[in-house]
Amino acid sequence: MKLAARVNRISISPTAAVLAAAEKLRAQGADLADFGPGEPDFPTPEHIRKAAVRALEQGRTKYTPTPGVGPLREAICNWHAAQFGSSYTVPECIVTAGAKHAIFNAFCCLLEAGDEVLIPAPFWVSYPDMVQYTGATPVPVMTDAKDGFRLRAEDVSRAITPKTRVLIVNSPSNPSGAVVPEDEFVKIYELCRAKNIWLLTDECYSHFVYGNEKPYSLAGVPGSKPYILVAGSLSKTFAMTGWRIGYLLAPPELISAMTKVQSQSISNPTSIAQYAAIEALTGPMDTVTAMLAEYSRRRDRIVSGLRAIPGVTCVEPGGAFYAYPNISAHLGNGIADATALAKVLLEKQHLVVVPGDAFGTPGYMRLSYATSIERIEEGLRRLEKFFAMAEAAR
Ligand SMILES: Cc1ncc(COP(=O)(O)O)c(C=O)c1O
Repeated sequence: MKLAARVNRISISPTAAVLAAAEKLRAQGADLADFGPGEPDFPTPEHIRKAAVRALEQGRTKYTPTPGVGPLREAICNWHAAQFGSSYTVPECIVTAGAKHAIFNAFCCLLEAGDEVLIPAPFWVSYPDMVQYTGATPVPVMTDAKDGFRLRAEDVSRAITPKTRVLIVNSPSNPSGAVVPEDEFVKIYELCRAKNIWLLTDECYSHFVYGNEKPYSLAGVPGSKPYILVAGSLSKTFAMTGWRIGYLLAPPELISAMTKVQSQSISNPTSIAQYAAIEALTGPMDTVTAMLAEYSRRRDRIVSGLRAIPGVTCVEPGGAFYAYPNISAHLGNGIADATALAKVLLEKQHLVVVPGDAFGTPGYMRLSYATSIERIEEGLRRLEKFFAMAEAAR
């Protein structure tokens, strides 16, 4: 079948491929130690679920305005202002089917062939494909494990060309957990603004930061609105991945263009989910605090466990819920790369990890700690055992 060239420029999300292989084994009854999921293992908080039930009972089951219902757009702007000190208004906000859809739609409206998009590596798997779909070119900007994978203004500066149209910054990062310090983020922003480059800040993990880190948004820095696009999501913060509610905060011209595209594609995000989202953003945040405390405990356990395995190094993630160890010392000797390692770990140890190749950094693998301490310990045992056996066989 002849498909459009733009479809052939992209591939299915590699994380989805890993999860599908794991699901197949699970269906056969395998006891998986699963470090794969990019989603909270916590249920959506009860008060949010109840708001959805209320919306159903009140018959809120019809089409909604394309950019989302007014009270939700207001709630997003107010919540963002209260959390981070930003100052967005309703015409600067669109509700989307998750942040993934917000970014995809924004790129469809902004990018065309010849444009370049700077993507700090390691990167979330979907960015390059979304860029390629539009015909523009993704340009990886390497960050260094020695700096904890934190993006620096000088790395960005070196990568800028006259074709650069967008820089994506995802802090805290999926997959590395790196958090860009606020002063460095401002420097990066000033660099972009001076060159008329849009800075897309992907804030999906904003509330999961550990130790001395505090949630912040570049959009909260006074005077920082021009040339910023804020992509946000309720998926991770409120454990609402399946509800598919995200948003973009941006100049009204872009919001109008995205509304046009949304009106000709999905019409609107699910009505019931939008009403549940209002409750999430206006209700208590104590479940978010509780999730953060538990992720922090798990982070400490998984990082110390990984570091105790010979030949494995691991940067301490400042945020999100992923550990991103370097396992390159264990490659070679029949295991060509991280993808081959992930495959053999799944087959021989029923251990699910996502190979670093997918994130633009071969030699690493991503372990999600959105799973219980007990399962983390079981997974670490399996990993250690596998590497010890592989070493013995060398
Ligand atoms: C960095 C990053 N951005 C965006 C998303 C998309 O989230 P959603 O579409 O569920 O809002 C994800 C999901 O894994 C992510 O990791």
